[in-house]
Formats: sequence, C-alpha cells, structure tokens
Amino acid sequence: MDRENDSETSRNELTRRDLIKLGLVGVGAAMAGGCAPGAAAPVTPRRRGLGPAPAEPFAAPPMEIVRIGFVGVGGMGTVHCENLLNIEGVRLTAIGDIVEEKVRKIQDMVVEAGQPRPTGYFRGEWDFVRMCEEEDLDLVFNATPWRWHVPVCLAAMTNGKHAATEVPAAVTIDECWQLVEAAEKYQKHCVMMENVNYGRWEMMVFNMVRQGMFGEILHGEGGYLHDLRDIKFSSEGEGLWRRAHSMKRNGNLYPTHGLGPVANCMDVNRGDRFEYLVSVSSPSRGLQLYAQEHFPAGSSQRQESFVLGDVNVSLIKTAKGRTIFVSHDTNLPRPYSRIHLVQGTKGLFQGYPNRVHIEGRSPGHRWEEAEDYLEEFEHPLWKALGRRGEGVGHGGMDYLEDYRLIKCLREGLPTDMNVYDAVALSAVSELSERSVASRSRPFDFPDFTRGRWEAYPPLGIVQA
Ligand SMILES: NC(=O)c1ccc[n+]([C@@H]2O[C@H](COP(=O)([O-])OP(=O)(O)OC[C@H]3O[C@@H](n4cnc5c(N)ncnc54)[C@H](O)[C@@H]3O)[C@@H](O)[C@H]2O)c1
Repeated sequence: MDRENDSETSRNELTRRDLIKLGLVGVGAAMAGGCAPGAAAPVTPRRRGLGPAPAEPFAAPPMEIVRIGFVGVGGMGTVHCENLLNIEGVRLTAIGDIVEEKVRKIQDMVVEAGQPRPTGYFRGEWDFVRMCEEEDLDLVFNATPWRWHVPVCLAAMTNGKHAATEVPAAVTIDECWQLVEAAEKYQKHCVMMENVNYGRWEMMVFNMVRQGMFGEILHGEGGYLHDLRDIKFSSEGEGLWRRAHSMKRNGNLYPTHGLGPVANCMDVNRGDRFEYLVSVSSPSRGLQLYAQEHFPAGSSQRQESFVLGDVNVSLIKTAKGRTIFVSHDTNLPRPYSRIHLVQGTKGLFQGYPNRVHIEGRSPGHRWEEAEDYLEEFEHPLWKALGRRGEGVGHGGMDYLEDYRLIKCLREGLPTDMNVYDAVALSAVSELSERSVASRSRPFDFPDFTRGRWEAYPPLGIVQA
C-alpha cells in the first residue's frame, strides 16, 4: 500500500529534510482527506524492520532541572506555561509560536516568574526545528494545532530531547508509528498530555477500580460532547484550524479525553489492549446551519461544506473482550459531557451527573451521589495537590498532569502515559474514519507494543 511504502522510506533516517517530508506527509494525509479513503484498506499491522518493543516501560536518567522549550503558546500552551512556572525544578528556556506577540507575552511571563528571559522562536511554521537543533533542552512540549504535533515531537526526539504533546498525539496511523519508532530509536519519552486522566472524578474512579469496588471491569463509555460551533467559527484560536478538519474528515476526531480514563481502568497496554473498532457517523448539519444563521449571504463561511457527521459513535473491543463506547459530538447545541462510565461485575460509576451504584452498598437499583464517595476514595494525588491547580486549567487537572510529567522526568521514572498509550488512544481517529467510510467495517488496532502489552505492569496509584 502507498501509505505503508511512504512510511517505510521516510522511517530510516530522520534527518532535517526527512523531518520536513514527514511533516508534509502527515499534513497531506490529514487535510486532503487521505485518512478516510472511500474503500477500506487493511491498516498497517506492524512496521517492517521494527524490532521488539522494550521489555520494560522506558525510563530516562533522572535530572535535577527540566529545561523546556515550549512550541505553540495559544490557549492551551499558555495554561501549560503558567503551570510549569509553578512547578519546582522547571526552567522555561525557549518559547516558539508563529505569532511573535504570543512569544513575547510568554517571555515576559517567564521573567516575571523570576527566570531568565527564554529565547524566542517565531520565524515561521518550521522554526521549532531550529529550536530543537540549537537549544540545550530536556523536553520539547507542544500545544500546536493537530497537524504539527508529530513534526514537533519528531524534531524533539531526533535532536535528543524528550517530547510532550497536546491531544491527540497523531492524526493518522502512519504518524502513530513514526512516534513509536522515534521514541524507541532515540530512547526518548513521547508523552501525550491527556489532562482528563488527572480529573478529580476520573482519578477517584481509577482508585475505586484498583480497590476492586466495581469488581471485574467489563465495559466503559466516554466521549467528547462539546458544542464547539462558536469556537470552530471563531476568527482566532482554534477557529483558525479546527474547522478545516470538519471539512475533510468524518469520524471521531478527538477521542482521547473520553477514552483515556476508561483505558486506564481497563489496563490498556498493561494487560489488555484495544483490538478492533467499528464506527458510524450521523449526517452533517450543525456547522452548515450555524453558518447560515451567523454569517451574511455571500460570506465565505456560507460557501463551506462539511463532511464530519455531527455525532460519531465508535465501539471498541479489547483483547480481553471488554467493550467501550466512544463518541464525538461537537457541532450541535448541547451541554458539555464526557459521559465517563466504568462498569464492572459489582457496580458502576457514571458521570454527568456523577453517580455510583455498588451492589450490597447502594440501595437496590438506585444511584448514590458520587460526592459521598470522595472522602473514602479521593485519589491521593488530588488529596495532596488538588488545591494547587484550582483556577488554573480545567479545574486543576492540567496542573496535576504537568506536575506528574515533571516529577517523572526529575526522578527518572516511567511517565504515567507513554508513547504506546499516546498512539493507541490517537489511533481511534483514523480507524473510525476508515470504518465510517466502509459501512462500519471493523478495523484492527495495530499492536504498537508488539505483544508487550501482556507483560507491562499496570499503572499504580501514584503519589504526589
Ligand atoms: N487538553 C485539553 O483540555 C485541551 C484544550 C484545548 C486545546 N487542546 C489541544 O491543544 C492544542 C492547541 O489548542 P489551542 O486551543 O491552544 O489552540 P490555539 O489555536 O489557541 O493555539 C495554537 C497555537 O499554536 C500556534 N502555532 C500554529 N502553528 C504553529 C507552528 N507551526 N509552530 C509554532 N506555533 C504554531 C498558533 O499561533 C497558536 O498560538 C490542540 O492540539 C488542542 O487539541 C487541549
């Protein structure tokens, strides 16, 4: 297959020129609809020439200070920079964005926090490569639009830096393999910053799962149900790039927030793995209707057409037989939800609103308020640090994820989320697009761990 051959040739030497080529391959596939071909084709199950995955979860030597280059300081990048300046052992030493004023703003913020002025990189879309080549950094963290996540991570790893990226880590399966290969070849962390894994309720549920409160976990549900119409049509921020994906791609474009916490509860990549997926999408109406209602006749927005089904529903089966429902719903009027359901042989948690039912503890056939479980089951990380993140980024979860990343790097620990988790969660995008395009035919997840998922140790209850 062409997709596979492209990957094969671009894989061997990740020089600067190749990097640029890889970036363009990714962009082309994502933006030209290349990841949703009309006819289903087998997804590359495994890259040729790739040896076994490491036998143990990757850990790098510890470091006293984590020197960070940050790329993409828009909405989410600014939140991370604020958090990072409040974490011990961090130096923000380089800042990059295509917009110079945004770089200047964060440089000022860093100086106000008492650190030396970081170097600014704002000479265009590929200036992050220069940053990765020229700066002494331990970590390159990016919160850029999706098309740049993989090029930035590859530039970081090929230049000897760890990589952290906002969600989703990758748009295509080919990009997923590129991240795995680079992380293994250059022995670097490649972390996807899934903040919802650090949400207060998500962590409480994970703690309850670990304590056996729900019995054997059999089923989960999650999703990203967020009316983004205003944001997609905005003339700034995500409006500049996110709507374009809705014009070319039909599937679950943003699967990781709903899926991340469920995957942790099911020990995905640590005893179980996503095996295959089927997907359907509803008709696409919401964005067209919004444009008609909000823009004058003759405006360019009214001429746009969209292929993204307003509601996408995907079902995942795991190797151990568990089932997961994951949805994407961003173009219609509706209150926010991530669903967040985790169900086992003894009971379940369901979010929005948060409730619990446990056989023998809850009244028969009735929900209890999840709030009543907090005192007994609040995750130790939240008990210790929850207040520190208050008011900074999604109710505090963003601070905790940044805190954990830095702690793992400083102490030389495996990160909570590794490259295999990043790509397993992100792979849902292309697989759902392929399934939707082929009458919901099932598509297999590549086994990115190449069999190691059976032996990798489960995530523990991490402490502050
Ligand atoms: N985890 C979460 O809760 C959460 C929330 C919002 C956004 N995000 C993710 O964060 C990322 C950024 O989203 P956002 O809302 O901050 O968008 P944004 O548009 O506000 O920020 C993106 C920034 O990247 C810059 N940029 C674009 N191309 C660049 C390039 N080639 N090099 C350097 N900078 C570049 C833009 O100028 C902008 O400042 C996305 O991946 C999004 O999915 C995650």
